[in-house]
Amino acid sequence: MHDLSPLVAIVSGAARGIGAAEARALIEAGAYVVLGDLVDDSGAHLADELNAERGTSCARYVHLDVTQSADWLEAVRVAEDTFGSLTTLVNNAGVSGRHGVEATSEAEWHRVIDTDLMSAWLGMKACIPAIRRAGGGAIVNTSSVYGLVASGAAAAYHAAKGGILMLSRAAAVEYAPEGIRVNCIHPGLIETAMTETLPRPWYDAILRQTPMGRAARAEEVAKAVRFLVSDEASFITGTGLVIDGGWTAT
Ligand code: NAI
Repeated sequence: MHDLSPLVAIVSGAARGIGAAEARALIEAGAYVVLGDLVDDSGAHLADELNAERGTSCARYVHLDVTQSADWLEAVRVAEDTFGSLTTLVNNAGVSGRHGVEATSEAEWHRVIDTDLMSAWLGMKACIPAIRRAGGGAIVNTSSVYGLVASGAAAAYHAAKGGILMLSRAAAVEYAPEGIRVNCIHPGLIETAMTETLPRPWYDAILRQTPMGRAARAEEVAKAVRFLVSDEASFITGTGLVIDGGWTAT
């Protein structure tokens, strides 16, 4: 495992699912992590658990609503005050939206676009000055295979996740001269609370179309993110890494 000990990261949506696995994977490699989420009790509990497991203060929980710029600025302040710098941002928090163009309400549109797309922009806007102060670093934004391929039943989600790819490329080009790499990931079917709410026929159809014949564990996504933020990925920027068991290859 690549040593991440100089890294200080903010991971959003870290109270459960993929974000929790990402926080754990970074900490296991020696990084310090600020975990942000809306669900304060489980987020704080996870941070305590990670600190106890490592026997050191490597995790800190903050309340972070990713749609609120003030929360982002506070998370950056906590990272710098607690761990001395900020080198890494993992924009993971997200919600699903499962209606087509006509069936999507304005409220759903704004909820999904704000949480899944605007959040990544707000997060980068707040964190990049701190990453610059640290001398450079890496950002991973979370798209989806639904940011590459359409289903016909998730208009706002597709728009947000497709937007993440171009937002990541735009930031990669803008900040490459400053040593800040920006990439995104496109997960396929991952076993989390989000996929538990998928209608069973929908879930089964994706599973049937996945060449590897299974969903992934959140840890499998986290390991890919750990690679992208590490020096092992030192020449990788502006790309989208597909983590889908071959689903988009078919
Ligand atoms: P999840 O629903 O298990 O966890 C999402 C976390 O984000 C929760 O802890 C939730 O409290 C937090 N969150 C939601 N709104 C927030 C907000 N406004 N501010 C801060 N935190 C907020 O979801 P999962 O599966 O772990 O998904 C994580 C990311 O991966 C999302 O962006 C999702 O779209 C993406 N993804 C997930 C896939 C899957 O199969 N599970 C597939 C492709 C992408």
